[in-house]
Amino acid sequence: MRSFFDRFPSAGYVCAHRGARSIAPENTHMALDIARQCGADLWEIDVQLSADGELIVFHDGTLERTTDIATHPKFSERHPWKLTEFTYDELKKLDAGSWFLNSDPFGTITSGEVLADDFSLIKRQKIPLLHNVLSECRQYDFPVNIEIKDQTGTPADERIVRQVVHLIEATETVHLVLLSSFNHRYLRQVKQIDPTLKTAALVEKKHPEDLQNYLAELGVAAYHPDSQITDSQLIRQVTSSGVRVNLWTVNDLIKAQYFMAAGATFICTDWPQRMVGFGHSA
Ligand code: G3P
Ligand code: MG
Repeated sequence: MRSFFDRFPSAGYVCAHRGARSIAPENTHMALDIARQCGADLWEIDVQLSADGELIVFHDGTLERTTDIATHPKFSERHPWKLTEFTYDELKKLDAGSWFLNSDPFGTITSGEVLADDFSLIKRQKIPLLHNVLSECRQYDFPVNIEIKDQTGTPADERIVRQVVHLIEATETVHLVLLSSFNHRYLRQVKQIDPTLKTAALVEKKHPEDLQNYLAELGVAAYHPDSQITDSQLIRQVTSSGVRVNLWTVNDLIKAQYFMAAGATFICTDWPQRMVGFGHSA
């Protein structure tokens, strides 16, 4: 039976962070489709639970930055618009694309890298369901790194891991998914529910003490530290123990090549359209 890393036998693959988020609204079907079409090797997406228990692809804890929630008078009382307090029926009505045209977060509207012909498609983007993204993975045999956002302190905390695992099993995408989280308790839960699923430990500010033993005890297949706290020595040390190292968020081509040469299996980038061709596929 195929396993996630079978399709990544060497170092140097390109992961589209929240899709091709420099040229399309992040975590939307459009950003994912563009990333795949431009040659990215996999996607990274963020997952949370809606108030009515649907698995939603969305990064922030609140809806303000990447939707038009602030323009809906009927939702004005519910500021600061926490995603976990909205049902999927409410979320699916929101425009998850126009903010990208209005705020031009990567300067690609101004530069012309986003074609005017695509503006109407951008405006039609909605918040995706994880179910639909996994169906797309299955359809295109395309792998995905699903980051389970930390839901500590919300009712979702108890349920999110079980639901994600069950959905992956139901859509027959176990071999296409790498599950990661900053909440390492979630990674232990994943392994308890389905030991065949591959997991990755996300770390931001500081490497855990006694790193190799820590990762072995967690049972993860991969380590995902912030690239800013990582160098080639760390990558070699971890990979020599049989654990993959994948880095985020790497937007500089020279740095990407440095990490790939040191043995990083993939780098997560906001600019997959610029990175493909310089990594494994070069
Ligand atoms: O999975 C890597 C990266 O996505 C973690 O940070 O905040 O972009 O989800 P963030
Ligand atoms: Mg993420």
